Amino acid sequence: MSFRLQPTPPARPNRCQLFGPGSNTKLFEKMAASAADVINLDLEDSVSPSDKDSARANVIQAINEVDWNNKYLSVRINGLDTPYWYRDVVDVLEQAGDRLNQIMIPKVGCAADVYAVDALVTAIETAKGRTKPISFEVIIESAAGIAHVEEIAASSPRMAAMSLGAADFAASMGMQTTGIGGTQEQYYMLHGDTRHYSDPWHWAQAAIVAACRTHGVLPVDGPFGDFSDDEGYRAQARRSATLGMVGKWAIHPKQIALANEVFTPSDEAVAEAREILAAMEDAKARGEGATVYKGRLVDIASIKQAEVIVRQSEMIAG
Ligand code: COA
Ligand code: MG
Repeated sequence: MSFRLQPTPPARPNRCQLFGPGSNTKLFEKMAASAADVINLDLEDSVSPSDKDSARANVIQAINEVDWNNKYLSVRINGLDTPYWYRDVVDVLEQAGDRLNQIMIPKVGCAADVYAVDALVTAIETAKGRTKPISFEVIIESAAGIAHVEEIAASSPRMAAMSLGAADFAASMGMQTTGIGGTQEQYYMLHGDTRHYSDPWHWAQAAIVAACRTHGVLPVDGPFGDFSDDEGYRAQARRSATLGMVGKWAIHPKQIALANEVFTPSDEAVAEAREILAAMEDAKARGEGATVYKGRLVDIASIKQAEVIVRQSEMIAG
């Protein structure tokens, strides 16, 4: 660890973020009743330009009137390259009550994008006497976003979460695919005659995790478009969890249980982590910094690894 300690991210479960278009009012009650930790009411790309004003009004009404229970409630505003975003922020923050927790800013390309929204949000909060500060989540979904990912993670004390948006990211990068996450047909190594598929999203995810962990922000995996492919979703989510991400989006309700399953540490994983901690306690009592657990080395670093799993499990349970 450097002299500067790694900050802890917000201590709340963020295993699944369920999205729904702000134009589809019949989904709101279903979203509130779902098992997702975070709800993202969308004003951006799932809402057609002709519906932007009515969707905004729907979302404000839903924030105020639906019983969101214990959900972490977020609104995805339109991008800063559109004529819609400022009214999204102004109307939502002036007219929606304190139930709203978070604003999601899409297509963030540099720290100044977040600064601009922060300035507007801060002015409205002060003017309206809002006492519960709005947090920010951002989507990294462009070449600029990934190139500036660390300054974006550090851009504001409001920063709470950061997601990879696979579809816009692929388009911005000029990737030759229309897939949203998961295995890509043309991305393989050849060994003899056998194709080994590797993961074109991996490096961007790892960059997001590093930026987030450096600055105390929750790293989240974005959408998986093929909602008929449960095993593909699980495989993508398991890789993300292994890399340090804390959750994944659901763009259809059937993906919620999959995300919750993958991002809740299993009973076996928690039991093993506790055994490692116990083995290290015994080692410490013997004056040893390293010992053997099930035939493999565990040492003081293993304590920190095991604690990640135990802490995550306790935070979700609590
Ligand atoms: N949240 C809550 N419930 C949802 C839902 C959502 N996002 N999407 C669908 N449902 C409900 C449907 O209303 C339906 O309920 P019912 O059984 O009571 O009739 C049930 O789940 C099954 O839905 P299904 O018929 O399979 O899907 P659909 O054709 O109605 O909708 C989508 C498919 C993809 C258009 C829809 O899921 C959707 O709008 N997803 C979110 C898209 C989005 O927000 N994108 C932006 C982020 S990438
Ligand atoms: Mg997008």
